[in-house]
Amino acid sequence: MLFDFKLIKSVYEQMPERVKNARKNLGKPLTLSEKILYSHLSVEEKGNKFTRGEDYVNFAPDRVAMQDATAQMALLQFMNAGKTKVAVPSTVHCDHLIQASIGAEKDLADAKQQNNEVYDFLESVSQKYGIGFWKPGAGIIHQVVLENYAFPGGMMIGTDSHTVNAGGLGMVAIGVGGADAVDVMAGMPWELKMPKLIGVKLTGKLSGWVSPKDVILKVAGILTVKGGTGAIVEYFGEGADAMSCTGKGTICNMGAEIGATTSIFGYDQNMSNYLRHTGREDVADLADVVMDHLRSDEEVYENPEKYYDQVIEINLSEMQPYINGPFTPDLAHSLSEFGKAVKENNYPQTLEVGLIGSCTNSSYEDLSRAASLARQAKDKNLKVKAEFVVTPGSELVRYTTERDGILKEFEDIGGVIMANACGPCIGQWKRHTEDPTRKNSIITSFNRNFAKRNDGNPNTHGFVASPELVTALAIAGDLCFNPMTDTLINEDGVEVRLDEPKGLEFPPNGFDMKDSGYLAPGADGSAIAINVNESSERLQLLAPFQAWDGKDWTGLNLLIKAKGKCTTDHISMAGPWLRYRGHLDNISNNMLIGAVNYFNEETNSIFNPVNGKYEEVPVTARDLKAIGLGSVVVGDENYGEGSSREHAAMEPRHLGVKVVIVRSFARIHETNLKKQGVLGLTFANKADYDKIQEKDKFDVTGLTDFAPGKPLKLIVTHEDGSKDTIVANHTYNDVQIEWFKAGSALNLIRIQNAK
Ligand code: F3S
Repeated sequence: MLFDFKLIKSVYEQMPERVKNARKNLGKPLTLSEKILYSHLSVEEKGNKFTRGEDYVNFAPDRVAMQDATAQMALLQFMNAGKTKVAVPSTVHCDHLIQASIGAEKDLADAKQQNNEVYDFLESVSQKYGIGFWKPGAGIIHQVVLENYAFPGGMMIGTDSHTVNAGGLGMVAIGVGGADAVDVMAGMPWELKMPKLIGVKLTGKLSGWVSPKDVILKVAGILTVKGGTGAIVEYFGEGADAMSCTGKGTICNMGAEIGATTSIFGYDQNMSNYLRHTGREDVADLADVVMDHLRSDEEVYENPEKYYDQVIEINLSEMQPYINGPFTPDLAHSLSEFGKAVKENNYPQTLEVGLIGSCTNSSYEDLSRAASLARQAKDKNLKVKAEFVVTPGSELVRYTTERDGILKEFEDIGGVIMANACGPCIGQWKRHTEDPTRKNSIITSFNRNFAKRNDGNPNTHGFVASPELVTALAIAGDLCFNPMTDTLINEDGVEVRLDEPKGLEFPPNGFDMKDSGYLAPGADGSAIAINVNESSERLQLLAPFQAWDGKDWTGLNLLIKAKGKCTTDHISMAGPWLRYRGHLDNISNNMLIGAVNYFNEETNSIFNPVNGKYEEVPVTARDLKAIGLGSVVVGDENYGEGSSREHAAMEPRHLGVKVVIVRSFARIHETNLKKQGVLGLTFANKADYDKIQEKDKFDVTGLTDFAPGKPLKLIVTHEDGSKDTIVANHTYNDVQIEWFKAGSALNLIRIQNAK
């Protein structure tokens, strides 16, 4: 048994009482999300009442999942928390570092060789600290979580934005940065703004060519990439209940594409069936007993407008399939209008590659429906025009679909089966093309289609659709083919039509596999040594950051005054830098290289006070640090927006930045700075941003009396000797001030553990 049955049992035992108290406390019927959130308040929040979209709340999630690219820094930090074991069940999944090239076997062998060092590190840390380890090839994090760990009414966080996939099994599952995962694994509360709620009522029933994927593609068109921000999207109605559990997972997965905090469906018979088919009968039995608490109260379903912040209604019986893209997942086209859009916008009409699978769409149902079309192509003597690539989501799905002849049906039409990994979905795709920069079209059943996402080519027009539609279009090799109305000419010159896809929700002979690729943690990891080679360029053990010296700071130098938008990508770029995500010193060479210097409007060219030259930001920061001088970063509005990656806060801390003062912060980045011990401040008077000059020096006063709500002061000395005093606001609470004094949140945890 991989899941923690005792934990799930205790969640269900406590749920009735907790839900009852929350209902009384809020004085109204509860939505499913509220039931789960209020059942997972951390101890100090019990009995409190929160305003959606306003109040920050501390939660106690049930579990943590990490993928290999983000797990490296999360675990390097966790190693400094002074814990011997993780506080909640946690898992690591090796799925992002495997490049899809010629097929599963060879690609997997190559990945193991190339990433050997990283895999060994993740495995030994997992063994040491009681973390479940899913080896490379075992599957994609979200599919594996759905098959093994997700449970209705639970709450989890994961270091990947598509963690939200587990909402398909009735869980509040949220994507976070590694530092948040460390908090939860170290037993600390995890903070989130109480989300708003969007209700999506699904009436009618899916049929024919229409699948769950089309529902989320339509919702993305309605809400756009920002429409779900700060909200949980809750699906309900007869159409929701009639949908398979994995179909619900697909919808929740792509909730990330509308910016939603997460998405969720209420517990129903299909979820119960899925639990039973994936070896979790005992969880299903328990969930059946508390079913009422795993769905919204009936009054919510009867009067949704009263209880959700926004309600959308979709009649599934009237829906068409959708194709979204290119370059953004919310550019929704119904199938009947898509051909026109292709022609009007001059999208390349020839379809070069169709790709199915990924964490979004590789259920047995998805693959068997797509295979029914592959079978027709073979039986009707159709030559498949586009390349066809399949990435199964897990070994459970791969083994079962291979056993049942489904993968063979893809191979019979020229399909290539890649490793059970992210591959082309995350750009780990060695695409075989004679010109990697040519304008071209591909279609996937994945979730994201931003420029360069799949193959690194900005001219690749990436479209997103259901696996069955991707298969049909790959057969036709033509983006304008509408399988509902059009015919194809086969190799005998005969006009043929593709019949509607048909599939099975569950394998008739049950799921099976030989080797799951799972390595359970040992009972006692204390003797396990974590070896990181000092000469490694990919991994570096973290040294704890220095504690505050108890004095106000003087003589800090301006490092950069960033102009305009400065996202976490500007502060810590992704792309080729992904390789160094486990090596703080090496990845720090990308610090702020994308930020625009206010004084010369250039990127990565700033005045270096040490030698008077204009140099790169990391070089200048290192020069200042080398002679013991701290530095200050000045930023504009919404500084640090974008991802929750902690590297954007750790790199400045590592390179000697003591203060980041901005007009306003993106909240998660502000918290990350606080966690890493960088002083995050805002100009009390936003116009003071304009007073900062290129060769300024800063003294920070008030640190010795640092207290919540009490502004600090920055004395700014300009090159000509004149001074300005700037009032700097902060949002530190008592605990966060302790983080600052200890040098980082982790240092504080370690100090507390040592007591
Ligand atoms: Fe993410 Fe795609 Fe992998 S969405 S988890 S990269 S399959």
